[in-house]
Parts: sequence; C-alpha cells; structure tokens
Amino acid sequence: MQQTDFLVIGSGIAGLTYALKVAHQYPDKKVLVMTKATADETNTKYAQGGIAVVNDTENDSFEKHIEDTLIAGDGLCNKQVVEIVVKEGPERVQEIIDWGARFDKEEDGDYKRGKEGGHSEFRILHHKDVTGMEMERALIDAVAKQKNIEFVKHCFVVDLITQHHLGYLVTKSTPDVECYGVYVLNLHSNKIEKILSRITVLATGGNGQVYRTTTNPSIATGDGVSMVYRAKGRIENMEFIQFHPTALFEPGVRGQAFLITEAVRGDGGILRNSSGEAFMERYDSRKDLAPRDIVARAIDSEMKRTGTEHVWLDCRHFSKEKFTEHFPNIYEKCLSIGIDITKNMIPVAPAAHYSCGGIKTDEWGRSSIRRLYACGECASTGLHGANRLASNSLLEAMVFAHRCFLDTMASLDNAQFRDDIPDWNAQGTAEPKEMILITQSLKELQLLMSDYVGIVRNNIRLQRASRRLDLLWEETEQLYENTSLSPQLLELRNMITVGYLIVKGAGFRKESRGLHFNTDYPNKSELVQNIVL
Ligand code: FAD
Ligand code: SIN
Repeated sequence: MQQTDFLVIGSGIAGLTYALKVAHQYPDKKVLVMTKATADETNTKYAQGGIAVVNDTENDSFEKHIEDTLIAGDGLCNKQVVEIVVKEGPERVQEIIDWGARFDKEEDGDYKRGKEGGHSEFRILHHKDVTGMEMERALIDAVAKQKNIEFVKHCFVVDLITQHHLGYLVTKSTPDVECYGVYVLNLHSNKIEKILSRITVLATGGNGQVYRTTTNPSIATGDGVSMVYRAKGRIENMEFIQFHPTALFEPGVRGQAFLITEAVRGDGGILRNSSGEAFMERYDSRKDLAPRDIVARAIDSEMKRTGTEHVWLDCRHFSKEKFTEHFPNIYEKCLSIGIDITKNMIPVAPAAHYSCGGIKTDEWGRSSIRRLYACGECASTGLHGANRLASNSLLEAMVFAHRCFLDTMASLDNAQFRDDIPDWNAQGTAEPKEMILITQSLKELQLLMSDYVGIVRNNIRLQRASRRLDLLWEETEQLYENTSLSPQLLELRNMITVGYLIVKGAGFRKESRGLHFNTDYPNKSELVQNIVL
C-alpha cells in the first residue's frame, strides 16, 4: 500500500502539466504519476498539427478564436469555458516554452503559424509535424528534474476507491461520493495494489481504440471514463466522436493508423475522389478547410458513392523543399510505403480520432466525485461542444491542468487520507485459459462500433449495436468475475463500457448536430442540450 498527497493518472500533456505545477507548489509533498505503459506512450506524443493559440494580436484576436471554436462546436459549446481556454491559452503556452518546448520560428524570430480546418486565421504553433512529441519530451524532461515527483510506469489503474469499497450503497443520486485513491494492477508483479491519495487527477486520454481504425495508440481505451461511470460519476456527450478526415489508408492495417495532419490541407493539400475531382467544393464553401465533421462526412459520402475504401490527398503541386520543411515525418512515412508525395497522391480515409465528451467537469476541472479532477481528453469541460476545433485539445489540456491545480490549492486541506480502505479481494479467481475469448470480443466490439456507430448513424444501427454490446458485456463480466485480471481484460471491459456510453448518448440525441449524424433525425433540434449519463 502506498500513500501520496497527489495521484496523477496519465503521463500525457494533461497529467504531466498538473504534476509539475503541484510538485513545484508543494516541494515537501509527494506527487505520484502513474501510467499503464511507457512514459511517453500517449496520444500527446502523436499530435502533429500543433497548438491553436492567439499570439499574433496584429492579425488575430481572442474574439476570432472564440468565434471559430463556437462555430465548430455547432451550438453546444459552453461559451464561458471557450473564453477561459482561449484567453488563458497564451500564458499556458508560454509556460511550456519556458519548460523547454520548441516551436518553429521564421528567420526574423517570430513563430511560424499554421492553419487547419475551421480556423479563420493562421494561429497554430507547431514543431514541424511532430509537435506532440516535442511537447511530451519537454514535459518528461521537466518532470525528471522535479525531485518530489515519482513516475511509475506499467501500472494499470483498475478502479477508483469510494464509499462503495467501505460497504456503503453508492448510486448516481448518492450525494458527496468521494475518491480516496485507486486499485492498481502492477504489471511487474501481477498483483493488485492499493494507492491512497488526498487528491486524484484523471488524465487518461481518449478512447479511439473502441473503433477498428483510429489515429490513437493502443493506450487509448477510455479507462478513466469507464472508471468514473462505474464509480457513479457523471459522463457527458459521449456520442460526439471525432473522425479525422485524413488518416493514411494502408490496405490490411488495423488499429492505429498514421495521421496525415490537417495542416497539410492548411498549406494547400487538396482532397480528390477516385475520378480525380476536387469534391469538397460541392459540400462546403470553405472546401478542404471546412470543420472536421463536414470534411469527414463528405469523404464518407464520396467513398460510399464510388464504392472505394479511400479518397486521395493531392500534394503534387508542393515543392519537395516546402513539404519536407513542414512535414518531414509524413514525407518519410509516405516514402517508406512507396508514395513520393511530389509524384503520387496520398490515399486517405477517416479514422476515429478524438472524444469530445467524457468525464463531466466544471470550469475548475472538478468531476462530480469529490477529491477527483479530470483534465485533458478524458474530460468534458464544455469547450468542444458537438465538434472540437482542430488543435484546441493540447491547449485545453494545459489550461485545465492549471485550473485543476488552482482548485487543488483551495481544497487540499479538506482532503485527508482514510485508514479504513480494504485491500483488493481476488478470491475465487483463476488464471484465464483462453486469450481468444478476449481478443475475439475486442474485434467484435471494434467492428460493430465502426459499422453501426461510425460517422453516419441511424436508429436501426444503434439498436443493433446496443443488443450486441449487451451480450459482449455479459460475457466479459463473467470473465472479470472468474479470472485473474490482465490489462487486456480490463481494457476490453472499459471499452465495452465506453461503447455502451457512446451508443446510449447517440440514442438519446434525437437530432443531427456536429459530429453526431443520424439519418432518422437529419436536422438540429431546437432543444440544445448536453446528454449526461
Ligand atoms: P494522453 O496524452 O493520451 O495520455 C493518457 C495517459 O493516460 C497515458 O499515459 C496512458 O498510459 C495513461 N492511462 C490511460 N489509462 C490508464 C490506466 N488505466 N492506468 C494508468 N494509466 C492510464 N490535438 C491538438 O490540439 N493538436 C494536434 O495537432 C493534435 N494532433 C493529434 C494527432 C494524433 C495522431 C492524435 C491521436 C491526437 C492528436 N491531438 C491533437 C489530440 C491530442 O493529442 C490529445 O487529445 C491529447 O494529447 C490528450 O492528452 P491527455 O494528456 O489528455 O492524454
Ligand atoms: C492534425 O494535425 O490534423 C490533428 C490536429 C488535431 O487533432 O487537433
């Protein structure tokens, strides 16, 4: 058993930003950062395009960034939160620069600013096409210098500890549910350990792995959302899954797909269908730089109409020098599979990319469970509404990690350790005999989510998905009750929960808005509401 003042679950931009701040503020207190994988295997590491921020007040303004975010969010953003993130953003970006992150600069020393779908101005700071890798590097380096941060890798957080573990009945209507720490599967010892904390922060990232093809790495299995749901906390707007329009299409590749950043279209890349037509102008006056939901749906519609598995991204008009200066990683990746972007078009198709909904928080990152904060992609702060504006998530993660830190300072004194938490009970469980029971269920889950709950939905598909999820849930719960825990089983269980929440949210939303498009309700409802589960 371990005790820590601050427990941070997740080592991406959200978790590490929070950890650095509390560690600096409380040099005599312990901060424990946990991750189920290696230190940097996070969605953060794969971010390409960059971070949207207003730092050129001559051509850009907070008002314009706020307006772009609200338009993308399609009526469902919390305007107060949008203002907070946009206006506090520049200070947070300066902080990560001070911690050592480097963004590309012009020869005169000013920052280079890129553009992506839905942005009215060039405002995206980037480090070539590997911005996330650079930010994650800077954060990990800064954490290594902070003596009171303990960084524990390969530890899988299983569940939040609440009054439920003390024998009380906890339901959705129980007031003042509190988080006292977590149970963790230590992947070195294969034992479940108990970690007690005064303050716990969930920064567990996204859930793209619920779908067959995703830009997310294998860690993105929605664990934080699922844990909060089991602990009877509030989850919001899970139906808004963002599909990135342009993941590299490689025949036979399942799971994580390589991203072709939207910044390529920002620099002039053109989408073409199988006949070579630049089709986006038929869908939206902003053409290739319309918000993501519109571009992804247009591509989906072109693929269905022409019976193809991908469309093309045409960059043949770029000079090699210009392309490789901004996108060296993409250039190399394409070349490695025989695509010379100066001569060949890039095959691309939409892939699950970002979860706009998640653990419901207030404007200080407080979840509905006391002593538990959530920030980063696992949180639903109200910024994104029905569709996230490109490159707003790294910004949101930093702004909200900071706000969680500010609120922690105000609430720490009221959060004390409990000494009556029982150990994990593993009695009656046996070693799993057949991994196929888990891997096959995972394939079924990913297929049904992609086929029935993808870019375009309808009532019959959602009903079918729901019935199949029920069966998968029942079978997986049996395994969970009877076998000793493995990360594969825990992830499957969490992903089925996330699938259930997406389908439930989609079923309740009797309209089409932002990323949720249901052909049975093709219009927006006049009732503008968040769906809270
Ligand atoms: P992550 O960085 O995903 O970190 C999650 C952490 O939680 C990991 O350390 C993981 O191991 C840990 N974890 C999860 N579950 C458990 C558990 N059960 N136990 C212990 N640890 C756990 N956004 C932008 O703003 N700009 C971009 O250019 C951009 N490009 C992107 C490109 C790609 C390919 C992808 C996938 C995303 C991109 N995004 C971009 C989105 C953005 O990168 C993510 O939303 C953001 O990095 C999420 O950060 P996070 O800290 O919330 O989570
Ligand atoms: C991209 O670079 O296209 C991804 C940006 C984002 O997801 O915000």
